[in-house]
Order: sequence, then C-alpha cells, then structure tokens
Amino acid sequence: MVHSLRARLLLWLLGPLAVFVVVTSGVSYDAARRTADLVQDHALLNSARTIIEDVDWDGGALSANIPPAALELFESPWKDHVFYKVVTSRGRLLGGVPDLPSPAANDAATPVFYDSTYGGEPIRAVAYERRLYDSGRAERVTVIVGKTRASREAMIASLWRPQLLRQWLMLALVGLLVPLGLTLELRPLMKLKEEVADREPAQLEPICPDPLPSELRPIVDAINQCIARLKIHAAMQRQFIADAAHQLRTPLALLTTQTQFASQCDARDPALRDALNGVHRTSRKLAELTSQLLLLAQAESMASSAPVTTRVDLAELISSVLEERVQAAEQRDIDLGAELDEHVYVGGNAGLLASLVANLIDNAIRYTQAGGCVTARCRRDRDEITIEVADNGPGIPAEARMHVFERFYRVATDPEGSGLGLAIVHQVARSHGGSVKVAPGAEQVGLVATVRLPAWRP
Ligand SMILES: Nc1ncnc2c1ncn2[C@@H]1O[C@H](COP(=O)(O)OP(=O)(O)OP(=O)(O)O)[C@@H](O)[C@H]1O
Ligand SMILES: [Mg+2]
Repeated sequence: MVHSLRARLLLWLLGPLAVFVVVTSGVSYDAARRTADLVQDHALLNSARTIIEDVDWDGGALSANIPPAALELFESPWKDHVFYKVVTSRGRLLGGVPDLPSPAANDAATPVFYDSTYGGEPIRAVAYERRLYDSGRAERVTVIVGKTRASREAMIASLWRPQLLRQWLMLALVGLLVPLGLTLELRPLMKLKEEVADREPAQLEPICPDPLPSELRPIVDAINQCIARLKIHAAMQRQFIADAAHQLRTPLALLTTQTQFASQCDARDPALRDALNGVHRTSRKLAELTSQLLLLAQAESMASSAPVTTRVDLAELISSVLEERVQAAEQRDIDLGAELDEHVYVGGNAGLLASLVANLIDNAIRYTQAGGCVTARCRRDRDEITIEVADNGPGIPAEARMHVFERFYRVATDPEGSGLGLAIVHQVARSHGGSVKVAPGAEQVGLVATVRLPAWRP
C-alpha cells in the first residue's frame, strides 16, 4: 500500500493513461495496417488489370505479351520482389512463374486478395479473372500478381510510429509534469505543517487561512477551533491558579501568625511549647512551599497567555527586592551590594520578575557562609538586559549544575527550602523570552547566576 499522496495521485493518473495509450496504440496500428493494405492491394489490382489488357487471341490461341510497365508500379526503395502468372481456365500458362500459389477459392466476379508465401517469403497477392471472347469462343484467363511485404511493413511503420511516439511522449510528459506540479501545489501544505510544528506551547493564535488553497481550509478551521478550545482551557487554568493563590495565601498567613503568637505565649509545659514551635515552623514552610508552587504555576501558565505589554523597570524592582533582604543579609553578616544601571526596562509581569530576583538573592544569602559577599548587577547591552547575582559561597558542583533548574532538585541538605526557587527563575526567564544559567564566579569561587532578557520595546 502506497502511503504517499503524491505517489497515489500519480498512480491514479498514470495508470489509466498508460492503459489508454496502449489501447489507442493498438487501434492506430490496426488503422495503419488497413490503410497500407488498401494502398498495396490497389496497386496489385492495377497491375493485374494492366497485365490482363495485354492477353489477346493470336491465331486462335491466347497469348500474353506483358509490358514492363505492368510491374513498374511496384518500384520502391524497399526492393520488393514481384511475381506474376497468367493462366487460362484450361490450365495453360501464358506467362510468369508457374508455381505462384493461387487463392483457396476463386470468385471470378471480384478480385481476390490473399496472403501466401512464395520462395520462402511471405507475399500479398491478388487473383484477377476475366473472360476473353473470340468469334464465338470464350475462355477465362486468371492473372495472379504477388509481391513481398517489405514496402507494406514500411508503410505501416511510417503511418503508425509518429502516432505511437506522440502518445508515449505525452505519457512521459504527464509523468514528469504531474510530480512537479504536485510538489509545487503541496507547498502550502508543507508550510502549514511547519507552522504548526514550529509553534511554542504558548503560541495560541489562530492560523491565518488566507494564502491556503480552499481544500486546506477545513483542516485549518479544525486546527483553529482546537486552538481556540486550548486557549479557553489555558485561561481557565490561569484563573484557577490565581484564585487558588489568593484563597490559600490568606489562611496560611493567618495560621503562621496564630502559631507564632501561640508559641510566644507563656506556656508552662515545655513539651507544649516545643509542639507549638514545631507547628509554627511547619506552617511557615507550608506557606513558603505553597507560595513557590503557585509562583511556578503562574510562570508556567504565563507562557501560554497573550504576550505581555507592561513595562517594568528592573533597576527599581531589584532595589526594592534588595531592600526587603537587607535584614536577612545582616543577620548572616553578609555584605549585600548592587551595581545597577538606571532605567533598565523589560516587558513583563512585575510580580513574577520580582520572584525571579528574590529567589536568586535568597539563594545567594542562604547558601553563602556568614561574612560572605553577595552582589546584584543589572545592565543593558543594546537589546539585551543582563541580571547577575554573584556570591562567594560554596557554589554548585559541576555535576549538579545541569539539574538545579529541575523542580524539587536540591543540593543543600538543610530542611529549609523546597527545591523550587531555580525552577521558578528558569520558568519566569523563559516566559519572558529569556534564559538563565549558573556558573562558578571568578577564580572558581562562589556562584554567578546570570539571567538574560530581551529589552523593552514599545
Ligand atoms: N547561590 C548558591 N550557592 C550555592 N548553592 C546554591 C546556590 N543557589 C542554589 N544552590 C543550590 O541549588 C539548589 C536548588 O536551588 P533552589 O533555589 O531551586 O531550591 P532551594 O533554594 O533549595 O529551595 P527554594 O528556593 O524553593 O526555597 C539548592 O538546594 C542549593 O543547594
Ligand atoms: Mg532557593
């Protein structure tokens, strides 16, 4: 079973066409043969008539004086051999070759044309009979003229071959042109395939059906309907995540505050105080985990929403994140610095970009040893914005570096952290058309996390 549309169409077209060409070749051969026979038979009959004109009574007996002109009719470049004989009804040979075969049945009224062999060669012959009268006497004379078939075959070939050639040429031309035409005409289909295959998961705009042939419209319509349904589904998903974030954050924040308050109360029983502290730690961790999970989901769903057109000043955003982290850095005696260009703009979601920066700075503060140094940088190089968070902590081992952007992957073994921070950074960078990488700092000390984002274009 052939699976290529092109091959099948070609088969449908060339198959019947080849049958047609074979049949018409047969028909045209038959017509050429009949025409050649007609012409040859006519010449044979003419020559038989010419011969019989010269049979006459001579002294009471029939005699034949055959002129060379009777046989000149057959002179041709194919050098056919011509034979004849003239016999009376009484069997007397008046001229020619005696053993030239006669027809099976002879009807005097009509000339008889027949195929036979003479001298081992196939011949075409005519037997022509006439009654000759002489003072009350009558005798029948039969003239037989036969001729080898070379000129007949040549005539058939010259009549038939050009037609045959034309038909096979047409078949070859169709065989060549149809695949070429199909390749050209199938180009829109290939383009459509590429357009659908090259799409990012987030690309949910409908396909423009305008340059496509009408046969492809139903397919494009069906794909567009599917895209529209996906878009509604993605929007519903986004709404659900936003609602869940809102609904979960409030009670978790409340729980953390309540457990913190309870653990600070003057509980006499140390076991109860320990338990309350434990509940407080767990609820704080739960709140952080929920917040990270929701941020990740939000970043992932942003990739499938419409492109963002809000301008965000990254320098300002990084400054405010740093301000919030000053206290945490001081607690660990970490020198938190910044080198920021002014007014560095990107297009995007401010909340998600803040979580990207916050996760990088949190990591640097959390994993660098006390007394370490953390620097956040932000600069613009033409169309690209680079955010860098560098520290002089332990860094990440080379074999772990390729996994740190996976969800829940952790190198550190402390109970803090959920292993989602760098996954969020990666997803936010991607959904903003950017990238992130982590590498060791200068002289293989510490870690530098670098995020590149396209600059804002109004
Ligand atoms: N600046 C850094 N220095 C050393 N190790 C780091 C640094 N940043 C990340 N890591 C390592 O990479 C791992 C993954 O980081 P990631 O931010 O994804 O998760 P986490 O910090 O463990 O949890 P979360 O950020 O969700 O609270 C961490 O467990 C840590 O071991
Ligand atoms: Mg982290």
